[in-house]
Amino acid sequence: MSTDILNIKSNEDYEKLNIAKDVIQKGELVLFPTETVYGIGADALNDEAVKKIYIAKGRASDNPLILHISDISMLNMIADNISPLEYKLMDAFWPGPFTIILNKKKNIANVATCNGDTVGVRMPSNMIAHELIRRANTPIAAPSANISGRPSGTKLEDIIDELKNKVSCIIDGGECDIGLESTVVRVINEEVHILRPGKITKEDIEKIAKDVEIDKHILSQLDSKEKVLSPGMKYRHYAPTTKCMLIYGSDEQLVLSKFKEVAMSLKESENIDENDILILGTGELIEGLKEFQTINLGSKNDLESVSHNIFSALRKVDAYNAKIALIEGVEPTGLGLAIMNRLIRACEFNYIKV
Ligand code: TXA
Ligand code: MG
Repeated sequence: MSTDILNIKSNEDYEKLNIAKDVIQKGELVLFPTETVYGIGADALNDEAVKKIYIAKGRASDNPLILHISDISMLNMIADNISPLEYKLMDAFWPGPFTIILNKKKNIANVATCNGDTVGVRMPSNMIAHELIRRANTPIAAPSANISGRPSGTKLEDIIDELKNKVSCIIDGGECDIGLESTVVRVINEEVHILRPGKITKEDIEKIAKDVEIDKHILSQLDSKEKVLSPGMKYRHYAPTTKCMLIYGSDEQLVLSKFKEVAMSLKESENIDENDILILGTGELIEGLKEFQTINLGSKNDLESVSHNIFSALRKVDAYNAKIALIEGVEPTGLGLAIMNRLIRACEFNYIKV
């Protein structure tokens, strides 16, 4: 497959997006940036095109996709019976890193929605994404750009080898601003359920809606028989091949001591040395652990930079050939909840709270 790479640096380059628009309209796949993570996009209303996304990612066929729109008139093509509270939420958080699960318009986007009654919709604020959807003149179905189970892609250099042979066109729009996927919500009986946390936090949503619930699966493991509101929760996600363990707590000194204690006991019980242990942590923690290989996730006092760095950091883990990666967690409130939701899955729920 010959793949076009379009380098978009400023709005003067937007004309190049007509090449990507043609690819979408022909029913092929485009790798494109959004403000959250890169996406693999196809015309959401073309079932044959959307099937190609599932094949490219190796994605489970019961895991529906988010439909991306460029303006509110596109909403009527895909969703129905929208409630006043749902409109209020879209009005507050669009365009932006916010996905809402709505009632689906009958008989459309069957593959993208896995033949379900609902549809996840998001209006991205990234101008390249916006221009692509506007020019294609159709909602674009797009999951995060990664092979299923791998960390999402936030810059092209991290994912190009993995995906270049699977799409017909690649748009390079630089690094994604946020670095974590959108907040996903569903309104049930006037209550807003957060199914996946993101940059738009519970506190942000509480300014718009009275009742906001965080789904219990956000930080805890699913029972195999449990029914979930969002199928994405069921699947292994974000994990490097290297075994990972998460350590977190609110007392910095206790957390540092725990890292040292765990490293010491691993060295004794598994007969490994400092070089076999990789630490992913905030700059503040890493200061105290210089004898190990480290990846700096950003400052403890700047969760936006941690969220920006996290997927790229997780993608680097395997290159260190460590036997284990010890990862520092953050306080699971505000944006920290979204960071912890990704990290706890990267560690496959292997964690210690101190
Ligand atoms: O920021 C994002 O949301 C990125 C960019 C590309 O927009 N996209 C993204 O897509 O993260 P994906 O497919 O990796 O994650 C979508 C999540 C999955 O957990 C899926 O189960 C859930 O949204 N989802 C999509 N449609 C749904 C629906 N109708 N009902 C319940 N959950 C849904
Ligand atoms: Mg994903």
